[in-house]
Amino acid sequence: MKLILAITFALLASAFGQDVILRAGQSGQFPIFPYCLCKATGAYRLENTVTFKGNSTYCFKVRVSIPANCSDYCCKQADLKKLEINVKPTCNVAGVALTATLNGAPTAINPNFELAPQGPLNSTIVKVTQLGLNLANANGAEICLSLGTNRAGKGCTTLEQLCVPPAGAPPGVCSAALFNSNNNCCPTTDVNNAAPPAAPPSEPIQLSVRTCSTCVNFTLSSGPGVIPYNFTQAQCAAYAKAVAAGFLNAAFQASTEVFKNFTLEVCSGRVVSVCGKFEDYKGALVAPYADDLASEFLSLVVPGGAPPPYLLGHTIVVTISSEKSNELVGRRLLQTSLYECPLAEKSLPLAPTNVTFPKCICNTTQGVMPFATLPFYTTKTGVSKGSKQYCFTFTTITPLSGPCANTNFAKVEFWANDTAPVRRGLKGFYVRSAKQTAFTFLFPTWSGSGDETVRATGLDWNQQQANGAEICMELDNSVSLDAFCLGPYSKGCYVNIFDKSKNCCPLYTAIDAPFVP
Ligand SMILES: *[C@@H]1O[C@H](CO)[C@@H](O)[C@H](O)[C@H]1NC(C)=O
Ligand SMILES: *[C@@H]1O[C@H](CO)[C@@H](O)[C@H](O)[C@H]1NC(C)=O
Ligand SMILES: *[C@@H]1O[C@H](CO)[C@@H](O)[C@H](O)[C@H]1NC(C)=O
Ligand SMILES: *[C@@H]1O[C@H](CO)[C@@H](O)[C@H](O)[C@H]1NC(C)=O
Ligand SMILES: *[C@@H]1O[C@H](CO)[C@@H](O)[C@H](O)[C@H]1NC(C)=O
Ligand SMILES: *[C@@H]1O[C@H](CO)[C@@H](O)[C@H](O)[C@H]1NC(C)=O
Ligand SMILES: *[C@@H]1O[C@H](CO)[C@@H](O)[C@H](O)[C@H]1NC(C)=O
Ligand SMILES: *[C@@H]1O[C@H](CO)[C@@H](O)[C@H](O)[C@H]1NC(C)=O
Ligand SMILES: *[C@@H]1O[C@H](CO)[C@@H](O)[C@H](O)[C@H]1NC(C)=O
Repeated sequence: MKLILAITFALLASAFGQDVILRAGQSGQFPIFPYCLCKATGAYRLENTVTFKGNSTYCFKVRVSIPANCSDYCCKQADLKKLEINVKPTCNVAGVALTATLNGAPTAINPNFELAPQGPLNSTIVKVTQLGLNLANANGAEICLSLGTNRAGKGCTTLEQLCVPPAGAPPGVCSAALFNSNNNCCPTTDVNNAAPPAAPPSEPIQLSVRTCSTCVNFTLSSGPGVIPYNFTQAQCAAYAKAVAAGFLNAAFQASTEVFKNFTLEVCSGRVVSVCGKFEDYKGALVAPYADDLASEFLSLVVPGGAPPPYLLGHTIVVTISSEKSNELVGRRLLQTSLYECPLAEKSLPLAPTNVTFPKCICNTTQGVMPFATLPFYTTKTGVSKGSKQYCFTFTTITPLSGPCANTNFAKVEFWANDTAPVRRGLKGFYVRSAKQTAFTFLFPTWSGSGDETVRATGLDWNQQQANGAEICMELDNSVSLDAFCLGPYSKGCYVNIFDKSKNCCPLYTAIDAPFVP
């Protein structure tokens, strides 16, 4: 029998909606806020002015203020457990966002709307409870209430919409009561909403969010004797794309999200900066991934294997740095300790790979002579039928000090496969000093078999002649550059510049194009 009754009750409840049952429970015994039997004088009150913090957040400040002629329990001993505000029933819609903080930290229990059990039909309050305040710690405590709507956009988001003003008061004035744990003290204050500060019209959302503004910077530096490399637009774009994907992936791994996707901000040659944003604690969730991400980003610039020739003598630094924005938001925040942003730094100095070239003993250090090979060759159709030219360009640099600093450009040697079929593929060299427009043909001179060395010799250029000079190697189309030039680089050749004494031989590599991941 009991079971049947219970089922019937449950059916009724769902048929009419739970509110019907609860409304029916409102006794109407206490027609006036705070809708219960309690003492209206006590130790606590709210400051009369409410502070608007943006994003529908209103803050109430508590004062311990004991009336002079009062010495009863409510004035001398009562604690402060909850805040109740007299609100309009129409604001009590299902699923509205409502949160509160006490001194900046989320309250132990989320605030909620309630029908006042002993109030008249539909009388409604907002309750913020488990405040845990007392005479010792309540003075100055700040309780902030964040109003929101439900998914359908229903709900009250201003005090004007929310509060039932006391008799004769204009909209926006609220009645609020402060209860002790026994609910027998309920000093009540009427509070006014201070005029909201004029919000700047642009980006109101940005202003009210606490964020990490995170940038990944790729920075190049180089010492003397090196041709400084500039990142290309294509590299900047590729790095930016990879950084955006890397952070999306890290956020996904951390079960969180990026607030603003990473995009390219600076592509200035020596610096590439790719920036995005995280919302407070979400940045903290991604922070543990920063170190691995920085390594991953470094490998975009320096792929595995031999370092790109154009970066030799450079140091590449990848930093992940973040700036915290200071704005507080009107909603749940994690403790400051959890508001951390991604930070990391990885760097790599790039030195040439050791190779078994040249075969003679001389100073191969880049920068010892006042000449360098540009890191990229160009190609064009060869003079003889079915051939192609690979043209290496030379430039002048400020050399490292030493015995090679004051030398001429006597010849260049290439590291090449000297087995018969490959060797026959080389038709010869077409050379042009910076002072000439026409190319001169030069027969190749091979070293002894097995030396893997072919030279364009008899040049003897001074600085003016070398600065912009070109040496084009003409290869038959039956022999690819990869088959002809030896060494670890694909589509790359080792180019060895010599002075007359053969003691100075800075070794350079030229490849087809910069590496774009
Ligand atoms: C306290 O004093 C105020 C006026 O100063 C008076 O209105 C109030 O009734 C007094 N309360 C008690 C409990 O004596
Ligand atoms: C109480 O609320 C219900 C539902 O919103 C409404 O239909 C009814 O008119 C209200 N009654 C009073 C007395 O305000
Ligand atoms: C504003 O407050 C609402 C409700 O508390 C919350 O859902 C929303 O994320 C907040 N918006 C911002 C930008 O803080
Ligand atoms: C990263 O680059 C941006 C833009 O150039 C700059 O504002 C920022 O200070 C750089 N950060 C670091 C850590 O170098
Ligand atoms: C790199 O860029 C700077 C200016 O941004 C320019 O002066 C320099 O010549 C460039 N270097 C190369 C190798 O292109
Ligand atoms: C970031 O980019 C991804 C992929 O393009 C997209 O799915 C996501 O919505 C973007 N996030 C933001 C906050 O714009
Ligand atoms: C290259 O050779 C030099 C001198 O022989 C040696 O000190 C250096 O460790 C070598 N580097 C690598 C990467 O093998
Ligand atoms: C090559 O020359 C440079 C600059 O003069 C010098 O610092 C370096 O020690 C030399 N290296 C060798 C192997 O002689
Ligand atoms: C040179 O070319 C020959 C013929 O293609 C090949 O067998 C040999 O392995 C090559 N030598 C080197 C050092 O790559």
